[in-house]
Parts: sequence; structure tokens; C-alpha cells
Amino acid sequence: MTMIDIIEKKKKGKELTSEEIGFFIDGVTNRLIPDYQISALLMAIVLKGMSDDEMTTLTLAMANSGETNDLSFIDGIAVDKHSSGGVGDKCTPIVLPLVATFGVESVKLSGRGLGITGGTIDKFESIEGFSTSIAIEDFPSKIRDCGMVISGQTPDLAPADKVLYALRDVTATVDSIPLIASSIMSKKIAGGAKAIILDVKCGSGAFMKTKEDAMKLAQAMMSIGKLAKRDVRCIVSDMDQPLGNNCGNVLEMQEVHFTLSGSGPEDLVCISSIIAAHMVDMAGKANGMSFEELVNECKNRLNNGMALEKYKDLILSQGGCISSTGGPVYVDVPFEVFSISAPCDGYISRVDASLIGKACVTVGSGRLTKEDKIDYGAGVVLRKKIGDRVSRGDTLCSIYVGRSIEADDEKVDTAASYALDAYEICDIPVEKGPIIISTLV
Ligand code: URA
Repeated sequence: MTMIDIIEKKKKGKELTSEEIGFFIDGVTNRLIPDYQISALLMAIVLKGMSDDEMTTLTLAMANSGETNDLSFIDGIAVDKHSSGGVGDKCTPIVLPLVATFGVESVKLSGRGLGITGGTIDKFESIEGFSTSIAIEDFPSKIRDCGMVISGQTPDLAPADKVLYALRDVTATVDSIPLIASSIMSKKIAGGAKAIILDVKCGSGAFMKTKEDAMKLAQAMMSIGKLAKRDVRCIVSDMDQPLGNNCGNVLEMQEVHFTLSGSGPEDLVCISSIIAAHMVDMAGKANGMSFEELVNECKNRLNNGMALEKYKDLILSQGGCISSTGGPVYVDVPFEVFSISAPCDGYISRVDASLIGKACVTVGSGRLTKEDKIDYGAGVVLRKKIGDRVSRGDTLCSIYVGRSIEADDEKVDTAASYALDAYEICDIPVEKGPIIISTLV
């Protein structure tokens, strides 16, 4: 078997066998195949696609290319969640403590943000003292402490995906449904989950810009889950405008705290409760409640302080600081440096998530390269969202930087122009779209 034969076969649109896919992933993992041949096969996959069986074989080969987590210390079914990423997506720090109130234990391995997409690890690191490097051996004791553990992904988890992802990034081969689906699912499977709820974001601030593409990705991951014998559910959710109001690390964690204190924005409360309800149901801890009752009970537990107590337990378990007033202590304080006013009266018809994401990255809340340092206090707070009525001069959104960092006027100006461009105002009332566009079970 040679790589040239495998590339040739895929170039002709033929289905690869499991031996051929195994040979490829083994060669990728052990660095036996030159990058130009890996890239050629990736491009052939982009152009010719893969069957469900091929995608599943590729996923399992990538999942088994390094260490796989044994989560047998978890009480019950190990359930995981994954979001394909977006602007202002802060569901994980809400959902984990929320499901813990139902006795659902979870190990969450997360990444850092890159580009306009924020990362859960950066968000937690905006809490003073919070450690996101928890050794695998310590997972069981953390689970005993508070029922949750959140940690950065180790380099040994699905190493083949790391090689492939780095090459895809520089060979225009990222936007392929089989490659994205196998990349995401390989890490979830290697992470040890038996049941997975996937949140595929759709819109200007997401990987998938259209509902059609988001549905294709969702269906591909559902098929992989079925063939790989994992219980997978998928929601397709809106990312045309940012989720919630706050974008940026400390700002988002402040909004997490409001939400866990019963004062969260409607879209964030709704999607977090639905994701949590799926996790509780898949973990077999619904206690006879219907799905609708579960969603309502999740909302109750955000309002009555139960999830907030669990969140505090998580922070303390991982070394984070809680102030004397009971909230987390953050590494910096967001400081408002500019506000953007409505140029006319009307109704908000668009808040482009990708432009708000660019504004955030410009003032330092995200990274353009993996090495960039971030300003934890930086970001954008939306004061108006789609459907809101505005009068000329009302504040649409505000730009923040960390109080400990001197604002760079040029960057603030650039961010402000992105933020202003993100808004569209029209003169007839606009109806808000639903946050959940579709659900696949
Ligand atoms: N996220 C991943 O983990 N992999 C992809 O290919 C795209 C998004």
C-alpha cells in the first residue's frame, strides 16, 4: 500500500478501505508521511467527500491515535458537550454546574480561543488562581470534590488530529464536512464520552455560515456517533448575532455569574437550559421528568441558586478565588472606553457576530496567533440586540479594555468602526429569530 495509490483512489472519488485509512492515520501520527502527501489526500477529501463509513473509520482511527481517557470513575454515563464555537458562547461554565445539581458528573476538556471564536479555557483563566491544567490522575478526586473538572486538552489526545488540523489551516482544507466532523468527534470519543450533545453554531460568527451547511455537519456527526455506538444529539443554533450580551473573557464570566444568579439574558438562559436538559436526559438522571419539564427545572435551578452553589464549588476545587461577597475574583477589571450610539431611530435588524468578534480581537480579548497574549478585561458589551427599538443617540454597544492595560486609541477606533458596522437599523419592527434552529436526536 502506498500513499500515492490512496491519493489516486480518493482523487477518483472512490471509497477508501479501513486498511487504507488506518495506514494513513498511522503514518500521520508517526510522522512517516510527508506533509505534501498528507495535504494532497486532504484536498482530495475536500473535493470528493467521504461516505459515513469512511468518516467513522477516520474518526475512530484519529481517536485511537493517542491516549484515550477512561472515565469509568464517573457515576453513571459519561456525558460531554461540544460547541462548534462562536462569539459570546459561554454555555459551558453555566451548563456544567447546572447538570451537576442533577448528579451528572462531567469531565470537560476544552481549548483556547483563536480568531473571533473564544475558548472556554481562556474564560476560566480570567478567574484569579483558577487552574486549567489538571493532571488526568487528579480527575477522580476533582469529580468527588464537586462533580466536575475542566481542563485543557493534553497533546496526547488524538495527536493525528493535531497534525491534520495544523496542515488544514495552511492548505485551504479546513472547510470540509467530513474533515470537520471527524476532527470534532475524534476528540470527543478519545475524551471518553459515551453520550455527546453537539451544538453546531450557524451564522456570520460561526464556521458554518448557512443553515444548510450547519445541518450537513450536524447530520455527519450524528452518523459518526451512530456507527461508533455513541449516543449523540445535536442542536443547530443561531450565531448570526453574539450569544448573550457580553463578549470577552472577564465580561463573559461576569455574564455567567449573572445567569447563574437568575439574571441571565433570555437567549443564553434558553440554550444553556436546553443543552443541560439533553445532558441530564442522556445521563439517565431525568427522574421521570419529560424533556420540557427538565428544561423548566434547569431554568428553576438557575434562578434558585442551586447551580450557582455548584459553580462556586468548581471554582474552589480548581484553586480559583471567591471574594468576601461570594463572586469570583477576576484577573482584571473591564473598563468602558467607548460607546457606540445609534445614528437614527428604528429597530435593530442585524448585529453581525463576526464583526463584533473582530472588534473584540482588535481590543485584545482574542488571539490572532496562538502566541498572542490576551487582555482578559477587553471586549464588547451589547446594549441592543436584534428586534430592539432604538432612538437616535441610544447606546448600541460599549467597548472595554482591562483597567490594568493602557487603551490603544487607534485599536479602540478600529474596534468601534467594526462594532458600528455590525449594526443595521431599519424602520419597521423586526421579529427575533429562535435561538435553536433545529434539533437532531
Ligand atoms: N473544530 C475542530 O475541532 N475541528 C475542525 O476541523 C473544526 C472545528
